[in-house]
Order: sequence, then structure tokens, then C-alpha cells
Amino acid sequence: MTTTLTLRRPDDWHLHLRDGEMMKAVLPESARHFARAIIMPNLVPPVVTAADAAAYRARILAALPDGMAFEPLMTLYLTEDTDPADVRAAAASGLVKAVKLYPAGATTNSHGGVRDFAKVRAVLELMAEIGLPLCIHGEVTTPEVDIFDREAVFIDTVLDPLRRATPGLRVVMEHITTGQGVEYARSGGDDLGATITTHHLIINRNHILAGGIKPHYYCLPVAKREEHRLALRAAATSGEARFFLGTDSAPHPDRLKEHACGCAGCFTATNTMSLLAHVFEEDGALDRLEAFASLNGPGFYRLPVNEARLTLVKGEAPAEFPAKITAGAEAVTVFDPGFPVHWTIAP
Ligand code: NCD
Ligand code: ZN
Repeated sequence: MTTTLTLRRPDDWHLHLRDGEMMKAVLPESARHFARAIIMPNLVPPVVTAADAAAYRARILAALPDGMAFEPLMTLYLTEDTDPADVRAAAASGLVKAVKLYPAGATTNSHGGVRDFAKVRAVLELMAEIGLPLCIHGEVTTPEVDIFDREAVFIDTVLDPLRRATPGLRVVMEHITTGQGVEYARSGGDDLGATITTHHLIINRNHILAGGIKPHYYCLPVAKREEHRLALRAAATSGEARFFLGTDSAPHPDRLKEHACGCAGCFTATNTMSLLAHVFEEDGALDRLEAFASLNGPGFYRLPVNEARLTLVKGEAPAEFPAKITAGAEAVTVFDPGFPVHWTIAP
């Protein structure tokens, strides 16, 4: 039986760090295990320009505890007013590693997102030219479309036409949640990748809704049927280069999760690597965890893999994770997989 597993240090290719007190509280939870992360720009107001990204990056580095090494990989929030020249300069300087497309209204703080794709055509053409990836939150927002179908409909009606109209555009399908997402990701070439979250490998929609509503399992895109979770598991554990980890760890204060109109987001930074070891072991794929968490992401983003290592240890006793972390006056609930996990990270 495998009891220790050493990997190249993983990266998180989709992370919400927020700002201020919340950022101070959650940043060490990621930096403890991850070398780098793609930092989502959906602050209020969003990170839109290169100047915004540089200032946010400086705040992140200032909040990093002494002795921790962590590199924030910055993104810009695409709006209908985004200036191609600003994007070009931000990419050329190395400051910005991707641009994020939120369809307007799709998720937390996305009201400034894109409504009319014609208005972002020049930015997309530029990105295709310079090879800067576009990270896409792939859900339509039309009220007529059932929330469980929003990803599949987006692929057919928005993503595929967008990719056809912009040859060479490098796209990351963020946090895919469906078999259709897996299938579409597989249909692309080297210019198409997909991130998968930890929680979507663990929960299906029953976990949210059966036996009482569980607000801490509610995130966007919402978890789907079991058959989709199984498709995601098969993709993540396949070792295929196009699939890589993006936790979408998205902290919200408990008082806004446990609410009549609860916020979307699962906070998984604290225990993600332990949970992934459990999942990959269960699927007989521990030897492919490094591909998913540490190799495939840098491959897609054309960045070097990390030289540092992370060692996971499997113990007899179940691992103990904090139920909550404290952020100023707020508490944030750590994702509870609902089963015992025996993997911890060696100090
Ligand atoms: C994210 C958040 O809270 O910022 N929420 C979520 O459920 N994933 C936004 C997002 O990535 O959709
Ligand atoms: Zn997200």
C-alpha cells in the first residue's frame, strides 16, 4: 500500500483570493501547498486594467506571511471596454498570464462581464496573436435555460462559435462540470484546456439538495448529476494533458452562505491536496495526480514546472482539518467531503 507520495509542488489554475482581511486569511491556506495560482479578477470593483492587476499583485505579496513562497499569476477581467493595447503591454511585461471572460451575470461579481461579443473582438484577436489564454466561465445566463443545462448550452451556442471565429485563440474551459464539457475539451487541440475543481470530483447535485439544503456545497457552475461527476473523475485521473487542477476555492463569509439567498462558492484551499490524493487513490490513479496538479497546468500555460516538491502521507487515523477559518470578524467554512480522508501534507 502506498503511504507516501511525493509530487512536484502543485499549482492552482483558478483561485479566488479576494482582498483585505479575507485575503489575509485565505492566502496562507493556498500558499502552504501551492507554488503558484491563477488569481481570479472578480473583485469589487474588478481587476480590469494592467494597473489594477499590478496593484492587486502587490497587495497579495504584501499579505503573504514571512517564509512562504507563492507566485500570484494575474488575470484581467474582460469587459466590453477592455483596451487591446493595455492587454498587450500587460502580457508582454509578464504581469498578466490570462484574461477572464465572465458572461454578464453568470456568477459572483460578474455584472460587468461581456454581453456583446462583437465588442471584445479586437481583444480576442490580439490574444490569439500573442498566445495569451482566455479563461472562460462557461455558462449561459439566459433565464430560459435551466441552471443544470447552462454549461452544455454555452458550449454549443457561445464557446464553439467563439473558437471558430477566432482561430488560434487559446482557451481554458474553467471548472467544467459536465460530460459535455469533458467531451468538448477532448475535441480541441493544444489550444484548448480545461480546469476541474476538487469539489466537482466529490459532490453531485444530491449532496446539495437531498436530505436538507447544504449551502456550503453550492457553487457555480452548480454540481450536476452523478454521471457527470464520474465523467469529471475519469478526465482528471486520465493524465491527459488538457485537464488540470483549478480549485475555484471561493471563500464567502458563513453568514452570506447560510442565508436565504446564499452565495455561490466552495472553500477548498485548506484540504484540496488531501482530498485529491483520496480521490486519485480511490480511482487507482495516484501515479497520475502529479500530471493533474503539477504538470499539465504549466504545460498549457507554457510556464516551467515547479522544482520544489510536496509530500503527501497516508496515516491510519483520519486527517483532521479545521472546520472553519477566521477572517477578521467572519468565519469561512472549509469544504467537508463527508467521508474520512487519511492523506495529509508532510511538514
Ligand atoms: C466564485 C466566487 O465566489 O467568486 N463562485 C463560485 O461559485 N465558483 C465565482 C466563480 O468562479 O464562478
Ligand atoms: Zn471561480
